[in-house]
Amino acid sequence: MFSKKKRVERVLPRHIAMIMDGNGRWAKKRGLPRTAGHSAGSKTFKDIARYANKIGIKYLTVYAFSTENWKRPKDEVDNIMNILREYLKDAKNFKDENISMQFIGNIDVLPDDLKELISNCEEESKDATGMHLNIALNYGGRDELVHAVQGIAREVAEGRVECSEITEQLISERLYTKGQPDPDFIIRPSGEFRLSNYLIWQSAYAEFWFSDVLWPDFSPRHLEKAIDDYNLRNRRFGGV
Ligand code: FPP
Repeated sequence: MFSKKKRVERVLPRHIAMIMDGNGRWAKKRGLPRTAGHSAGSKTFKDIARYANKIGIKYLTVYAFSTENWKRPKDEVDNIMNILREYLKDAKNFKDENISMQFIGNIDVLPDDLKELISNCEEESKDATGMHLNIALNYGGRDELVHAVQGIAREVAEGRVECSEITEQLISERLYTKGQPDPDFIIRPSGEFRLSNYLIWQSAYAEFWFSDVLWPDFSPRHLEKAIDDYNLRNRRFGGV
């Protein structure tokens, strides 16, 4: 028999954004090179993306490489780019799972082969009706705003947009995430409490969730706990 007590349905964040932090420390704790941490982090990413799609999350954004990450040693940068290459070659798996994929960030400066893999992957997955996955690559929130402002300034100079037409909505439409809802929920593991230039415009009213767990150890169980905590939040968007 079903209980007569009405269960309160939990609300899923429509858009979750994650900062996949702690790969290096995870590897160091095991006496492994940092690259091993990124490989383990990549596996976690695949598991979490699949799980998020399975439970009905509509938008997931992950931070794979920031505009500041070029400061890392060359072999580490090469390793992350190679992980991405391998993932993209294998991304047909995601096609089977009905996930559409988009890369956000300044992709233009990346090596040609990677750009081609990215464009194939976006094209092949564009009609998927399941979760939309954004991979932030060579992404910086300030860089994104500079890019948007330059575009708008050009439109004004060419007489296509009036200054009075520059609104919050217009700016949102000039960002890499145009047409998408802002993130409702930002998850950052690894014991750090900062945004690190991630989605700085889009996160104006996001809820935040932090945890000490290092990204490679992040599991669907942690995601479930985070979503349960999200359900305890009272989002007022500046109202009462
Ligand atoms: C931050 O941890 C992690 C990165 C800068 C790289 C994240 C990249 C991956 C997990 C691979 C992504 C792959 C795909 C296919 C999207 P950190 O290195 O700063 O860790 P630390 O703070 O412990 O040093």
